[in-house]
Amino acid sequence: MPTSNTRLETFLEHCRNRIDAELEFQLSGAGSGSERLQQAMRYSVLGGGKRIRPALCIAATIAVGQPQQNALVPACTLELIHAYSLIHDDLPAMDDDELRRGRATTHIAFDEATAILAGDALQTMAFGWLAEAPGLDEQVRLSMIRELASASGHRGMVGGQAIDLESVGKSLTIDQLEKMHRHKTGALIAASVRMGALTAPEVSDNQLAALTVYSQTLGLAFQVQDDLLDIEGDTTVIGKPQGSDMARAKPTYPSLLGTAGARAYLSQLLDSALSSLEGFGKEGDVLRDMAGYVVARTH
Ligand code: IPE
Ligand code: IPE
Ligand code: MG
Ligand code: MG
Ligand code: MG
Repeated sequence: MPTSNTRLETFLEHCRNRIDAELEFQLSGAGSGSERLQQAMRYSVLGGGKRIRPALCIAATIAVGQPQQNALVPACTLELIHAYSLIHDDLPAMDDDELRRGRATTHIAFDEATAILAGDALQTMAFGWLAEAPGLDEQVRLSMIRELASASGHRGMVGGQAIDLESVGKSLTIDQLEKMHRHKTGALIAASVRMGALTAPEVSDNQLAALTVYSQTLGLAFQVQDDLLDIEGDTTVIGKPQGSDMARAKPTYPSLLGTAGARAYLSQLLDSALSSLEGFGKEGDVLRDMAGYVVARTH
């Protein structure tokens, strides 16, 4: 029997290979109006990344007993939205970071205007792909478009980024910080799992509700670990500038609870993510493994 670690590594590698191949294929098509824009889009999407959101989408598809193939395009669209969010997050107007995934951020490798446009184009591309995702009926595609729009817009990621920028230099309460994290990071992670589950047109309300609790808890945990890595990580391992939050006076879990407090909170979040999967048998094992990985990851 493979250990859960080997099982997870094999699964993550399998997802990365399939996602990278599909993204490469879709982004290699005859260009946009501008060669430079096309290059910036490819640079931002194809330059590494753990592909956690696509992996969660595929893991949820497995949990509801659907063919992984049906999750491939939805999984890629999550990565397009994620790549766009990172390009904009790194801009001088936001976090002003020059390193991402171990190399220059998009606005440094190209220029600010091209970076903004590449983000815009990736965002609309995501919805275009989803509208045409193969193997899924129209109602399913529509529900996924609704899901992705809500998670990435003002009620989700963009709303959270706005709270993040408004919070610079302020000391937030725990509730305010949680709200910020649930929006800026949690929403897209929750959508990743929910979109995987939506590949099953007959998914029950109970299953979807359990997966929603799992994914929202995991989404929050993901950002708590990201905050910890900003303090305890190593720039060469995390591939982005360690200490960026502190330098920009961002409120984070470690800044509010201390690193030990943030770690204790992370472990509570892991327990509650796992208990929300109690109704799933072996088909939920990959989601269980993913939860352990998200809280223990080193980059
Ligand atoms: C980083 O996300 C941005 C956050 C939401 C914290 P990831 O840690 O998933 O970044 P990549 O895709 O692996 O580079
Ligand atoms: C941003 O959080 C999450 C996004 C919506 C992009 P961070 O600003 O902490 O992400 P990193 O640390 O730059 O990856
Ligand atoms: Mg940020
Ligand atoms: Mg940032
Ligand atoms: Mg961060």
